[in-house]
Amino acid sequence: MSAPFSFPGGMGAEQFLAEYWQKKPLLIKAAFPAFETPLSPDEIAGMACEEGIESRLILEQGLDKCEPQKWQLMHGPFDEALFAELPESHWALLVQEVHKYVPQLAQLLESFRFIPSWRIDDIMVSYSPVDGSVGPHLDQYDVFLLQGLGRKRWQISTADVSDAAMVPGIELQILAQFEVEQQWELEPGDMLYLPPGVAHHGVALDDSLTYSIGFRAPAERDLITSFIDYLADERLPVSHYRDPDLTLQQHPGEISATALQHVREIITHMPVTDEDIARWFGQVVTESKSGDQVEPQSQPLSVADFVGRFQQGEKLSRCELSRFACIDQQTTVLLFVAGQLEEFNSAMKTAIYLLCDQRAHTATEWSELLVSNDNCALLCRLYNEGHLYFENDQH
Ligand code: SIN
Ligand code: CO
Repeated sequence: MSAPFSFPGGMGAEQFLAEYWQKKPLLIKAAFPAFETPLSPDEIAGMACEEGIESRLILEQGLDKCEPQKWQLMHGPFDEALFAELPESHWALLVQEVHKYVPQLAQLLESFRFIPSWRIDDIMVSYSPVDGSVGPHLDQYDVFLLQGLGRKRWQISTADVSDAAMVPGIELQILAQFEVEQQWELEPGDMLYLPPGVAHHGVALDDSLTYSIGFRAPAERDLITSFIDYLADERLPVSHYRDPDLTLQQHPGEISATALQHVREIITHMPVTDEDIARWFGQVVTESKSGDQVEPQSQPLSVADFVGRFQQGEKLSRCELSRFACIDQQTTVLLFVAGQLEEFNSAMKTAIYLLCDQRAHTATEWSELLVSNDNCALLCRLYNEGHLYFENDQH
């Protein structure tokens, strides 16, 4: 299941990126041949009842079906008893971030290594009985829609519908009009790639599960405000506005063009270095969501005990609540784990790249790297802090 999928017609990942990524939809039939869903509909319903897991229920005809076409959105966690009351058709249950709780789904993300991992957001799963759907809509993000169970008919439109009317009076953004341009029936293992802004509508043809591998693209305005906050905290100049060149103004009530020019210079000459951008961006994109803090090991291991367990063959995995990324700074390497930055000597570059490139590690892959005490100490510390775990740990 963790093997990378094949694109149609022998296309490679490079060609996919050049021709399809962020550009046009692509149907990938049998992307994962004989795909077996790691989650059953009952397990998905169970997750939707849990506190701390984000879930939504979308009913096309309301709970009591008395008002057809009256879309209704409910947020989890749900009471188990609700599921017995649901109609037989026309609804969809969505559970967000399932890769954090199901290791096989975290492993599925390894098939998307051709996209930088900081761009990956989450895997969402949807369960719908026959005719269930979330309505025609568009997303601002790239998505791979992998059919996990049953069949779903996907209809799309690449027309510009950014200003289109939405169904009024509901919390959901459902397109009031949707002109179908292309459609496909997806079976388990089939996958549809959609770039941002392509309107889509998936309707279950029978009991259906879909895994959405969703990507993140930070809003530019959020990036700018976050960077300004970072600079303000880290090292914005403390000097004040100065105007030793002030000349007599005819209108004291006026803010002069010269004053505005001074202010413009303060703004545009902010002392921003490439290093600032690197340090800030790595921290921002690896930050954990609130409530996603890892638990440190209650009984931390010494470096020797940790290495002993690793070398005895236990697989070491990343806790999916923590995001990892690194940036090469030539003489040093920046490691970001769950929003925390640490700078290491470039002698540790190979170890840090391996740590960030892979979700799971074996001592065989690390054998030469374990000769370095620094590498061992780093792995052991990340383990004790809860960012890594052994597969035999209670997790
Ligand atoms: C679905 O799984 O049916 C909805 C996913 C989406 O449209 O983004
Ligand atoms: Co969508």
